[in-house]
Parts: sequence; C-alpha cells; structure tokens
Amino acid sequence: MTANELTTLSLAEHGPVIPVIVIQRLADAVPLAQALVDGGVKVLEVTLRTPVALAAMEAIARAVPEAIVGAGTLRSVADVQVARNAGCRFGVSPGFTDALADACRTQGLPLLPGVSTASEVMQANAGGYHFLKLFPATAVGGVNLLKALGGPFPDVAFCPTGGITPETAPQFLQLPNVKVCGGSWLTPQDAVDAGDWARITRLAREAGALRR
Ligand code: 3PG
Repeated sequence: MTANELTTLSLAEHGPVIPVIVIQRLADAVPLAQALVDGGVKVLEVTLRTPVALAAMEAIARAVPEAIVGAGTLRSVADVQVARNAGCRFGVSPGFTDALADACRTQGLPLLPGVSTASEVMQANAGGYHFLKLFPATAVGGVNLLKALGGPFPDVAFCPTGGITPETAPQFLQLPNVKVCGGSWLTPQDAVDAGDWARITRLAREAGALRR
C-alpha cells in the first residue's frame, strides 16, 4: 500500500458514513457543514456538481476547521487542480482513469477512486489503489457483488456509495471488505431548503451510530 492509500483509508476511522453533499446555494455551505460536524460527522464529500461547489468547499474549510473536506465527482485533470486549489484534502471519483490518478498523485491529493467491475478493480490496483469506492453500489449488485469481489480481491477494501439508505447501510457495513459507506441521505434537499439544520445534525448522529 502507498502512503496515499493510508490517507484515504484513514477517512473511515472517523465514522461509518461519508455524506455525499450537493450544495446548490453558497449560503447553505457553512451551516450545513456545521450541522454535520455537530452530529459527529466530519469527513464531508462535497460534489463538484454545482456552480458554487468550489466556493462552498473553501467556505467550509475556512469556517468549519473540524471538517475534513473532500471533493466528489472528480472526472478530469482540471477537476483535480481546482479541488486542490479550493483546499480539499481528498478526492472521490465515480470511476477510474490513469490520467485522473496521475493528476491526483502530482497534486498530492489522496484519491478514493470509483469502480464497478472486477476489471476496474484490477485497473485501480495496478494504479496503486486498494481502497475503492464501489459506485453505483446498489445498482451494480450491492452486498452480493461486494461478497463476490471479496473472493479474488481479499486485499481490497470498499466504500460502497449509491442507493444506500439508513435501512440498508448496516448490511453493507457488516461486510469485512467494507470500511465505510457513502450516501446523500444525511443532507436531504428539503431540509437544506428549510434551513432545518437540527434535522441534519440528527441524521448525522443516527448515521454515526450505525454499526460497522
Ligand atoms: C452520488 O453520486 O450522488 C452518490 O453516489 C450518492 O448517491 P445516493 O444519493 O444514492 O446516496
């Protein structure tokens, strides 16, 4: 394992769920992050999917120092550069490319790369990555796929993400090759729109209590 991987794997030590966050309005970024941190969730994946995403990452990193902010939805070399410049401490990608991995290495950004097949696991392993995001986890086979991948890849750990709910998360978290899972259920858009930060803190606390 490389030092890079030890860094991403250490994210799992902070709790069983990494929230996948889509920020539509910059003003929501800091109270949203603070609500999650108040609920005990401090590893935050902020997706690069909205025009305010980069400004949101910067604002959170500045105003909520306990938060460990990463950039999600990294797809290109340019994404890696802007995420690094925004102060992100890790990156998450939906898939794996050598160009993305090279850019992350060059920029010193620990990467949690996405895979959904055995061949992609092998490609990521060849690139030096053994802690991988399974995406979209439920759609590509969920718990059964993770059990099956555990046979040929006993040295690979996963962060399944995509379609996971508070009800199904425990089934994933009990697998020996699952270290943490990702999901958007901690930050429902209606709660964000209503400024219902207490609900988000409650969801974070409940997610943190899920058993690994
Ligand atoms: C995403 O890319 O949006 C994540 O996989 C989150 O998926 P979810 O909304 O199904 O949790």
